[in-house]
Amino acid sequence: MAQRDREKWDRKYTEMADLLKPRKPSEMVSLYYKEAPGKQALDLACGSGRHAVFLSKKGFRVDAVDISPIALEQLAKRSDPEKVTLIEADLDDLELQPEHYDLIVKTNYLDRKLIERAKAALKPGGIFIVETYVEDEENEKKDANPDFLLQEGELHSFFTNNFVMLEHKTFWNEKYEKNRMKKEAIAVQKFV
Ligand SMILES: C[S@@+](CC[C@H](N)C(=O)[O-])C[C@H]1O[C@@H](n2cnc3c(N)ncnc32)[C@H](O)[C@@H]1O
Repeated sequence: MAQRDREKWDRKYTEMADLLKPRKPSEMVSLYYKEAPGKQALDLACGSGRHAVFLSKKGFRVDAVDISPIALEQLAKRSDPEKVTLIEADLDDLELQPEHYDLIVKTNYLDRKLIERAKAALKPGGIFIVETYVEDEENEKKDANPDFLLQEGELHSFFTNNFVMLEHKTFWNEKYEKNRMKKEAIAVQKFV
């Protein structure tokens, strides 16, 4: 899997360099990072690192994980190595230290098993923000792999135990994206 994902994403980033441009953080991240009980953050599938950079400027130490060396190269150019640690790894099997992070963000990337592992990697009181695409008949990209799309009600179902819901919303993706797609985002806090 790792090799295929790396090739796929490196090809995308090479053919569509726009994907690597600096972008604003998601609204949920810019609102709810403030609720984190401490300053240790994890950005899962960070890409070129819009959230890793944003959070490092807010005083967090960030572990930024992605499989694409091309994306991480961009992030290296934009970030302070004392604040952002780049981790080139396959999230399918990366081990996460239990109860280590105050804040975890996972945006525009869906791996259901990873959500479970990330929940365990949060400290009590830690904040988890998940935002990604949802299956919807009005989505413009008709050939999206359904494995990578949330089903209705699914996002909420990951957090029925041991988490307090801070916000859950549905919206259309950012205008700069190639295809108009429905998204959901959730911010939750782990029980203390
Ligand atoms: C759509 S981008 C999201 C980037 C960023 N989270 C954001 O919201 O701007 C998806 C990212 O997932 C990474 N990715 C895909 N499969 C992966 C895997 N198995 N392990 C780690 N990263 C992966 C890709 O390299 C890509 O940078």
